[in-house]
Amino acid sequence: MMKRTLWAPLALLAATGVWAAGETIEINPPAEGSVSTEEGLAAWGRIYEVASHPRCANCHTGESDRPMWSGPSYGKARPHGMNIRAGESRIGAEHILCSTCHTTKDEDWSNANAVPHAAPRVAAEWQLAPVEADWFGRSSVEICRQLRDPERNGDRDMLELAAHLDHDLILHWAWAPGGGREPAPYSLQEHVNDILTWGVAGMPCPEN
Ligand code: HEC
Ligand code: HEC
Repeated sequence: MMKRTLWAPLALLAATGVWAAGETIEINPPAEGSVSTEEGLAAWGRIYEVASHPRCANCHTGESDRPMWSGPSYGKARPHGMNIRAGESRIGAEHILCSTCHTTKDEDWSNANAVPHAAPRVAAEWQLAPVEADWFGRSSVEICRQLRDPERNGDRDMLELAAHLDHDLILHWAWAPGGGREPAPYSLQEHVNDILTWGVAGMPCPEN
């Protein structure tokens, strides 16, 4: 049972061929019952640091269909310039497609994103996160409850969340954004480990 939920995403990971040599992600959950609530909450604290970081939260804007420009390289936080809207499609189909500026065939990240203030580019369809995954400006407890709620997390258990690779290229970019942008904290592997640790602890959320 555990094996089955594990293998499909891992096969996907291999098939996408995204990760350069030495950058494979390992999915090794700690044994059931081996993680205390306290350790789970500590892992959650680090997950929150990642989720609320501009490299993630700028796209996880909830009800709003406006991506955000925030983080040290932007100065003041503000909605995406040029009146960009993602629409209900979340890909900008009703206005101008995100991919017009954000997609590249170049998988060499340092090359694709060397220029400060140019549009970040990935070799995948760039789009706004689903409405339910509403993280921008949200508190730790709000994001925690959203992420552990199958109704609002795309019906994923902890292993599926950890191995969630539908936007792996975007995640890859978030930890190596280039262009003078601050990368998301920790590393993708550490983030995956934290999600597994939090999951085995029973996905505990802070009280407030
Ligand atoms: C006309 C070109 C253009 C289009 C279309 C466009 N963007 Fe952008 N986007 C940019 C540029 C340029 C920047 C970088 C601005 C800067 O760094 O000062 C950017 C930055 C961003 C950022 C901030 C990334 C970060 O963390 O630094 C997000 C998020 C984003 N865009 C999302 C979207 C989404 C979602 C769409 C479609 C709904 C979209 N963009 C459509 C040009 C565009
Ligand atoms: C360019 C926009 C963009 C950026 C930047 C981005 N995401 Fe996402 N995120 C998405 C989209 C689109 C989805 C929906 C994909 C899906 O569910 O298949 C998503 C879904 C998710 C989900 C599934 C959870 C849920 O509740 O549906 C997680 C977890 C997640 N993102 C984590 C992250 C993390 C961590 C970062 C930063 C390291 C990040 N994302 C940065 C666009 C983005």
